[in-house]
Formats: sequence, structure tokens, C-alpha cells
Amino acid sequence: MPLARSLSVTSLSGLEEWDEEFDLEDAVLFEIAWEVANKVGGIYTVIQTKARLTAEEWGENYFLVGPYVESNVRTQVELIEPTNPVLKRTIDKMNASGCKVYFGRWLIEGSPYVVLIDVAFTAWSLDRWKSELWELCDIGVPWFDREANDAVLFGFLTAWLLGEYVAQSEEPPHVVAHFHEWLAGLGLVLCRHRQLPVATIFTTHATLLGRYLCAGNVDFYNNLAEFNVDKEAGDRQIYHRYCLERAAAHCAHVFTTVSQITAIEAEHLLKRKPDVVTPNGLNVKKFSAVHEFQNLHAQSKNRIQEFVRGHFYGHLDFNLDKCLFLFIAGRYEFSNKGADLFLEALARLNYLLRVNHSDVTVIAFFIMPARTNNFNVETLKGQAVRKQLWDTAQTVKERFGKKLYESLLVGQLPDVSKMLDKEDFTIMKRAIFATQRQCQPPICTHNMLEDSSDPILNCVRRIGLFNSSADRVKIIFHPEFLSSTSPLLPMDYEEFVRGCHLGVFPSYYEPWGYTPAECTVMGIPSISTNLSGFGCFMEEHIADPTAYGIYILDRRFRGVDESCNQLTSFLFQFCKQSRRQRIIQRNRTERLSDLLDWRYLGRYYISARHMALAKAFPDTYLYEPHDPTSTTGFRYPRPASVPPSPALSRHSSPRHSEAEDNDEDERYDEDLEAEKDRVNIRQPYSMPFKNKLSTANGANGSSD
Ligand code: UDP
Ligand code: G6P
Ligand code: GLC
Repeated sequence: MPLARSLSVTSLSGLEEWDEEFDLEDAVLFEIAWEVANKVGGIYTVIQTKARLTAEEWGENYFLVGPYVESNVRTQVELIEPTNPVLKRTIDKMNASGCKVYFGRWLIEGSPYVVLIDVAFTAWSLDRWKSELWELCDIGVPWFDREANDAVLFGFLTAWLLGEYVAQSEEPPHVVAHFHEWLAGLGLVLCRHRQLPVATIFTTHATLLGRYLCAGNVDFYNNLAEFNVDKEAGDRQIYHRYCLERAAAHCAHVFTTVSQITAIEAEHLLKRKPDVVTPNGLNVKKFSAVHEFQNLHAQSKNRIQEFVRGHFYGHLDFNLDKCLFLFIAGRYEFSNKGADLFLEALARLNYLLRVNHSDVTVIAFFIMPARTNNFNVETLKGQAVRKQLWDTAQTVKERFGKKLYESLLVGQLPDVSKMLDKEDFTIMKRAIFATQRQCQPPICTHNMLEDSSDPILNCVRRIGLFNSSADRVKIIFHPEFLSSTSPLLPMDYEEFVRGCHLGVFPSYYEPWGYTPAECTVMGIPSISTNLSGFGCFMEEHIADPTAYGIYILDRRFRGVDESCNQLTSFLFQFCKQSRRQRIIQRNRTERLSDLLDWRYLGRYYISARHMALAKAFPDTYLYEPHDPTSTTGFRYPRPASVPPSPALSRHSSPRHSEAEDNDEDERYDEDLEAEKDRVNIRQPYSMPFKNKLSTANGANGSSD
């Protein structure tokens, strides 16, 4: 008798506990994405962070399918023999027919199984498959579009894999195939065309047209309903990609997207309303010591400070202890990600800090990968000079210490004037001379290949923020994702975020936006917008987001200049906070992390899978649509410790003196406040799914 697998999806801060028990014993889940074990952007984060929860639910019957990329496999995947006999036969059969398909365990939390397909190995079939695609659906893929060619190969190969899996199964299996984004979408279209008995889900993480239109000079949100989609796609030479995306959205049993705002966009541009919105979650780590994340902030900040010491050598005329680290990070889409607005607001902030004689210095990091030719010499030299100064200080310290020791040994207090001799001074002078610098500290850490046309650099040239002494706002552009093995800034992205004070993500086009979500779970405040999925989600679920360090910029109802003023005002207000206020705000921010945990948000994926199973196998599964109001759910109240006046609540707590500012124990007071503020909201969430067979058996069924 099949065992019922049960999953308990909970959230820790009083959000509703939700138990679901259903019989999926013979069901198998394939989740297919180009970003399986292959980091490109946020979709990788979705798959990678969700794996643990999905593996807990589906156990041995969960397989992620992605492209085989040797460098990734070497570092992230343990190749093994397929564990499932049907899958083993499937892979063997494909490999015997001229494919290269690998099986392994992805070495991440949950250790899910991965099936990795070497698309290049089957490139000999490309022309044949492209003509088949043309015959089937009149979609012609041009030879020069490499990504679309990969999509064709990947699509045919994944459909082959699923078809073969069904063929190799002794009993007809219940397969759910969940495809992410247009690059994987063709596999879904082919499954439906070949009438495979597979329940299909298509999740789009953006629409192609949306991304392209927003990047151009278009009033996107006011004209959503008006676009002539075929023409717009054709004008941008993405018609074939658009067709693949739209076909996948329409062929899927269940169509989902990551936010309400993208759901509306999809309805207009892809002409299908998503069945389920599946907000993106994270794997929230809880520390046993409540303040561990604050300690981590201090540790990581020290490391960023070290880097800054090197980068600004010879120009360290600002107080590092009064320095705030701001950052923007993500794929380099200059205006979609709001880097344009951020730079403009930084110029205005610089002016405000200067005229107000502020002693705060802001260092704004831009972490956005662009084409480069390695680090530039000046930046590397900065770190070398810093290291040399450190070594010099250590040498002199040792010599000093030796003299001090000798003096104490003979029972005398040292003569301080003789502790440093001529040689010590020579060493130190030489080191100081090395820090002389003729140029300003560089804006960019790398040699850019397209320096003269780079949008960030050109904007910096226009606004004139060149890291000069008079500027209170400095800029560092690191055109490469961060890595702990970098010789320049050896920190991984997570460590870096922890060490910063504020993430700034003023996106114009952002279906979800993981970067501010990641800040939140690490207790770092962030700025997002009401045009980003994340911003809208937080606005919906938190009564006073600003009090929690979630600043949501209005880019929907204001013009660019007004939004820029609002952003400047957020930044300026942030700069005026005391250390104590920042600590309190970080505590509040971190308290929201449960809201973003897959343990809570995973339920929407589960719901989508149930819906797909019920549509594809109506004799076995039943899906009962639930009361739509039950998903809109809870709301975090404003923290009890925030004063009620909206004017005052912009700042999370009253100002304190400088003396208090340096008192580090105040955070424990805030812990007591935290207890007062703890939310305890119960919102019933009923899962609409019933397994017909098991309900009939009385073994198990849906639950609330
Ligand atoms: N990211 C990273 N290293 C970096 C900067 C960013 O791994 O140095 C990751 C970040 O953790 C996030 C992803 O890039 O998960 C960006 O996802 P987001 O949804 O914000 O934007 P997308 O790039 O998908 O549009
Ligand atoms: C954390 C640490 C404190 C430190 C503070 C600095 O809270 O636990 O020891 O003083 O960070 O905060 P700041 O916002 O100035 O980086
Ligand atoms: C896309 C979107 C981004 C989202 C990510 C994961 O890359 O641009 O906003 O966070 O997918 O869903």
C-alpha cells in the first residue's frame, strides 16, 4: 500500500502553520531550468534555495534538469549512477542514441538529484529540430541567436527525456514537469504536442517583451494594454523568442509567475492570466544567538573597511567610523535595475551632505557584471599599499615591543622618547611616501572593455562624482560578481551584503528582485520600488514597511524627477540616523525574514503542482479552488515601539546623543522591545487539493 508523504509547511513568527498530506507516492517531479547548477541571475536563486523544501516533499522522486556546463559540474555536482531504475534506463537509452546526459547530486542544501544535458554534444541535430519546430508551430529561429539555438536543443532534449521516461515506465507514471522561463519553455510545448501524459507547469520570471520594452524609452506601465505585441517583438528582433515564451505559457496546464505585477504584465503581453502567483522565497537561516547577525554585520563591515582603506589610500581624509556603505547589485541592466536613478540621487545626496556639513561619508558600491579585461593596476596597487602599511606597522610594533620588554626585564619604565629610533622613522617615512598618489581613487575596479560607452561610467562623468576629497559621496564600480577568491575584495556576496548598511534597488522593471529580499533576511535595510514584485509584496504584508527598514520608492505614480527626490530623501534620512537607530532598524528588518522563508512561501508552488496534477490526471486527482481571500492573508503590524505619528515613524526611533551612539549594549534593550513587537497573526490557509483516490480510501486528503 502506498505510503502517504506528508509535508509540514510552517513559518516561525506566528504565521499560520499549514499541514498538507496527500498521496504522491507514484508521482515524479521534474523541474527544468537553464539555471539548474548554472548561475546566471535570480532564477538560479529560486531553484537553489527552494531545493531543500522540494526535496523534503518529493524525496527520491525529485529531479532537477539543466544544462551540462563542465566548470559548474566540477565545483557543484557529484556525478553518480542514476538511482531510479526507470530514469537509469531513460538516460542509458538517450546516451546510446547520441546524447550526453549526466546524473548526479547537486551539492547544495537538500542535495537534490540533477539530470544535466550537454546540449552542445547534440548540436548536430539543431537544423533538423529547427525545421521540425517550423513545421509544428511556424516558429523560425535565426542561426545567429545563440541563446535561442540553445533553447531549441534544450527543449527537444528535455521533451525526449520526459517521453523516454514515460516509455520506460512499466506502469503509467504521474509525472509533473515544471519548466522555468522561455529558455526551457520549448520542452513543455513539445510535451503537449506529443501528448505525453505529463502535468505541465510554466513559470515565467519576467516577460521578454516587458524586459525589452522597459529597457527602451517606453512608458511601459501606462500602455500595457495598448502594445501591439507581435510588432514590438518583431521590431526588437525577438519575435521567435517571444513565440516560444507565449507558446509555453499557453500550452501549460498551469501558468504561474512570481508577482502580481508580472501577472498583470503577462496577461497583457503573453495573453494568458497566470493561474497562480508563486512569490520567491529564501532559505532562512536562524542563528541560535539572536544577535549573531549583528555581529556578522560588524565583522563583514571591518573587511569592507579594509578594502576601502586600500582603495582610498592617500585620500583617507574621511572618518571610516562615520562611513556608510550602500550598494546596488544584479545583472547589468542600467535603467531596468534603477542604476540611473541611484546615481542621480547620489549626486543630490552629495550636495545635501555638503551643504549640511555632515560628517558622514557615503560609499556607494555598484556590483554589476560588465565586459572587462581584469582588475586595473591602480586598484590592485591600492590593496598592495595598504598591505605594505600594515606590514610596516607590524615591523615597527615588534621592534617597539622588544625594547619595551627589555626595559621591563631590568625593572625600568621605558623612556618613551627613545622607543622609536631613526631606523623606525625611516621605515615609516618610506611607507608613507609610498601612499602618495597623483590621481583620485578610481571609480572602477576593472579595465572596462567598453569604457567610453559604459552607462554607469558615462553617468558618473556627467554628474561629476569622481571620488574627490570634497565629495561626501564616493563611488566604487565593481563590474564583476563578488567572490571569496578575489585578490581585490575577497568576500562572497552574502558576506558583503552583511557588511553594508543599505541595499539600494530602485528598479523600474523587476518581476521579483531577490537582492532586497536577501538584504531583509540578513537584517540589512533596503530600498526597493512599487514596480518590483518584492516591493509590492512587502507593501501588501507590512503595515509600516519603512519602520522595518523596507523603504519602497514610488516609481509608479510619480515622474522620474519626483522619484529621484524621494530616493534622495530616503538616503539623506538614512544618513542622519545614529548608530543606535541603525542597530534598532536592523533588528526590525531581520524580524521580517519568516515572511520570505520557503517554509511559508513554498505553499504556492505546491498549490500549482496540485492544480496541474488535477488538470492532467482528472481521474486521479481533484483540485478544489479555494477562497481567493485566504491567500491574501496576514499583515505585519507596525512595530509597537514606533511612535504613532507618520512624520516621526519615518525614523524608527528617537534620536540619541553621540555618547549613546557608541554604546553597543543598547541592542539588548531593543530585544525587549522586540518581544513587544512580535507579531502573532493567524491566517487560515486552506489547501484546495484533494487526492481523489486517497480520499476515497479514507487514508488521507486535503487539510487546511
Ligand atoms: N548576486 C550574486 N553575486 C553578486 C551579486 C548578485 O550572486 O555579486 C545574486 C544575488 O544573490 C541574487 C541574484 O544575483 O540572488 C540577482 O537576482 P535578482 O532577482 O535580484 O535579479 P535578476 O538578476 O534575476 O534580474
Ligand atoms: C552591530 C554590532 C555592534 C556595532 C554595530 C555597528 O550591531 O553588534 O557591535 O557597533 O553593528 O553598526 P553600524 O550601523 O555603525 O555599522
Ligand atoms: C528574473 C527577474 C527577477 C527575479 C528573478 C527570479 O531574473 O528579473 O526580478 O527576482 O527572475 O524570479
